[in-house]
Amino acid sequence: MSGDLKTARPEHIAIIMDGNGRWAKRRGLPRVAGHRAGVKTLRRLIEHAVKLGLATITVYAFSQENWQRPQSEVDSLMDLFMGALRSELDDLNEHNIRLSFIGGRGDLGPKLRASIDQSEARTRGNTGLKLNVAANYSGRWDITRACRELGEAVAAGRLAPADIGEGHIEDKLSLAGAAAPDLFIRTGGERRISNYLLWQLAYTELYFVDVLWPDFSPARLDSALTWFAQRQRRFGKTSEQIAEASGQLSC
Ligand code: FPP
Repeated sequence: MSGDLKTARPEHIAIIMDGNGRWAKRRGLPRVAGHRAGVKTLRRLIEHAVKLGLATITVYAFSQENWQRPQSEVDSLMDLFMGALRSELDDLNEHNIRLSFIGGRGDLGPKLRASIDQSEARTRGNTGLKLNVAANYSGRWDITRACRELGEAVAAGRLAPADIGEGHIEDKLSLAGAAAPDLFIRTGGERRISNYLLWQLAYTELYFVDVLWPDFSPARLDSALTWFAQRQRRFGKTSEQIAEASGQLSC
C-alpha cells in the first residue's frame, strides 16, 4: 500500500467514545460533567471531519446495556442528547451534515424520539458528512432483528431459506446501504468492541487509544488516520496479491 493519506483515507469511521466517567472522576466532578465534555469533543471532531471531507462517522452514544447504569446517569444522558440536538441541529444542517440514528428508538421516550425524527427529516437532503448516532443500540439486537425479518419473509413464502445470503442480512441491518466501517476508534484504553457494529466490523481496522474521550482531539484523529493509511488491508488475500493488484492499478 502506498501510504498516501488521500487514497488510504477511511470512507467510514466507527467510534466508541469511552472514558467520560473517568475523566470527570479525575477532576472530582460528577460523571455527567464528563459526558458534557464528551459532547464538546464530538463537536470539535465533527468540525474537523467536515474540514477533512470525511464521508461517514458512526458514534456509539448509548448502548442497550447502558440502561443498567444508575437512573440518574441515564436521565442525564437522555437530557444531554435532547439538549445537544436542540443546540447543534442548526449548525449541523448549515454544515450540510446528514444525521441518522440507529438503535431501538421506541424505548427512548416520546420527546427524544420526536426530536430524533425531526432532526433526521430536517437533514435528510444534506449531502456532506453522514453522521450516524447509535442510541439504544446493540450489535446482537441488530442482527437478531434482521434474522427475525428474514424469518417472517420465509414464513410468508417470499423467501426460500436456501436463497438466504449475506446480502439479505446486510440489507436488514440498521446501516443497510452504508459501506462497512474501514476504521474503528475506541478511546479510554479498553480493547473490546462492546456489542457495537458486530456484523460490519468483520474487516475493520481496529484502533485503540488510551486517551479518555473528552481529551480526544482533532490531532488525535489525524494520528488515527495516519495509522490507518499505513495498514495493509488484505481481506483474506496475501500481501503479494495486494501488491500486485495495486501495481496494476497504478499502471
Ligand atoms: C462512555 O463513557 C460514554 C457514554 C456511555 C456516553 C457517550 C455520549 C456522549 C459523548 C454524548 C454524545 C452526544 C450526542 C448528542 C451524540 P463512560 O461513561 O463509560 O466512561 P468511563 O468508562 O470512564 O466510565
